[in-house]
Amino acid sequence: MRSLWQADCSFPERESLRGQTSADVAVVGAGLTGVLTAYLLQQRGLNVVVLERNRVGEGETGGTTAKITAQHGLIYDKLINQYGDEIAWQYALANSRAISQYQTLIEELNIDCNFKRCPAYIYSRGDTEKLEKEADAAARLGIPSFMTDHTELPFKLRGALCFPDQAHFHPLLFLRALAQDLKIYENTRVRTVEDRTVYYDGGRLTAKWVVIATHFPIINFPGFYFIRMHQSRSYVIGLQKIPEMNGMYLDVRNNGLSFRSEGDTLLLGGVGHRTGKNPAALSDAPGSYEILRHAAGRLYPNAQVCYQWSAQDCMTSDAVPYIGRYSKSNPRMLVATGFNKWGMTSAMVSATLLADRIMGVRNECAPAFSPRRYSPKSIAINVVDDGLQSTIGLLSQAFHFPITTLDELRRGTGGIIEYRNKKYGAYKSKKGEIFLVSTRCPHLGCELKWNPDEKTWDCPCHGSRFDIRGRWISSPAVNDLQNHQMKSKTK
Ligand SMILES: Cc1cc2nc3c(=O)[nH]c(=O)nc-3n(C[C@H](O)[C@H](O)[C@H](O)COP(=O)(O)OP(=O)(O)OC[C@H]3O[C@@H](n4cnc5c(N)ncnc54)[C@H](O)[C@@H]3O)c2cc1C
Ligand code: FES
Repeated sequence: MRSLWQADCSFPERESLRGQTSADVAVVGAGLTGVLTAYLLQQRGLNVVVLERNRVGEGETGGTTAKITAQHGLIYDKLINQYGDEIAWQYALANSRAISQYQTLIEELNIDCNFKRCPAYIYSRGDTEKLEKEADAAARLGIPSFMTDHTELPFKLRGALCFPDQAHFHPLLFLRALAQDLKIYENTRVRTVEDRTVYYDGGRLTAKWVVIATHFPIINFPGFYFIRMHQSRSYVIGLQKIPEMNGMYLDVRNNGLSFRSEGDTLLLGGVGHRTGKNPAALSDAPGSYEILRHAAGRLYPNAQVCYQWSAQDCMTSDAVPYIGRYSKSNPRMLVATGFNKWGMTSAMVSATLLADRIMGVRNECAPAFSPRRYSPKSIAINVVDDGLQSTIGLLSQAFHFPITTLDELRRGTGGIIEYRNKKYGAYKSKKGEIFLVSTRCPHLGCELKWNPDEKTWDCPCHGSRFDIRGRWISSPAVNDLQNHQMKSKTK
């Protein structure tokens, strides 16, 4: 489903790349991260080529809510406890600077993208102890903040922690302007990278540096990002006829509601779940959009829902992105991933850190984001949690037998079925057309799950996604689903 941003911003089409070529830097992926990185490097005089398998801005950047803020939930108290003041300070500095960097770029290039400075709040309807701790952590790191109980939210709350002078914008208007003069090739799928040669469909590109900005990294070995992250999906609806809010709001509870206005449209977000684990697929539980619509009806009875969309992001166990060298064995391949749903500032932090690294400039904030950082606690959490999920996903592929047949599948729904003694993922359209795909994820083989909210096949292990015809939507998978596609009519 198209987001508000995608609905009102189209991009010029670009040609795809074929044959052999070379560049100073090859950037893989033309979302906000790839485009910002390419822009900063081109500004510093390098020859940069960006390879995009789909279209510019059609990835997760097209589904963001575009809050540009250094307030990333309750991150600072956590960082101080886990890594100490110095790393927490580096994180705060890099993300706070990112907001000003956006403003400077937008003003210098005169980009009309609705950039607006505004306060960000984390609110609580229960006790405020966690907010107060975060306020103390912010104060210790020199981040301006204050507690308040006055907000624009349509319900009573116990308190909110405000970071003043944050921002939001229209991410695709910004991206389009920045991408304009870059060498970007669309519909150019990168299959793999060896040393500094990037192999794409129909050719290869040799570069002095390679930046992997594919959201979830597509190279499994080395790097092993697939055992260090999972993906989490969340949902947004756009409501009209609501007075514009000045602030941006996030519930302190996991999976509470998020609010921010874009002109006369209020973006109400939330109802997240691990990708591939939509509760609505497992029972008759209401879908994510239904839950959001219900909340909207309660809070804003006169509002009209005019948009709905969803997106996902890569979640690291310590809530800090991986930005820097992809792996020890390939020092000129770089990565930016694991933004934990804070990809606007993280994309700018990534672009700055990676451009500095390539230009040989020391950046005092780099250690906080190093992909090589080691936290015994976070590694343990990952091994137990993500490792368990992957094991379940792999075992399900081998041992999970469908309980439904094609005939039993209701129209407009999908599920794993048995058909002619074989297991398939099936979708039956409202007209009765059948779309059959393999349930085996082409990334590392886990069993895909049906997502009834988006009508897609999603992988619970690392978050690859595919449409009803088996076509790729999200990395880390590179290939489409094995094609068992069959179109026929049934009852
Ligand atoms: C619902 C939701 C709301 C959010 N709201 C906010 C917010 O308010 N503020 C905030 O800071 N963050 C937010 N985020 C997070 C933010 O949107 C993302 O972190 C960010 O957009 C990621 O940008 P990206 O460039 O890394 O990825 P993408 O935009 O996904 O770009 C990656 C690109 O790589 C391409 N690609 C993939 N594989 C290949 C390949 N094999 N070859 C070539 N190209 C390839 C893809 O096609 C894609 O275009 C939100 C996330 C969600 C889920
Ligand atoms: S995304 Fe890794 S196995 Fe599916």
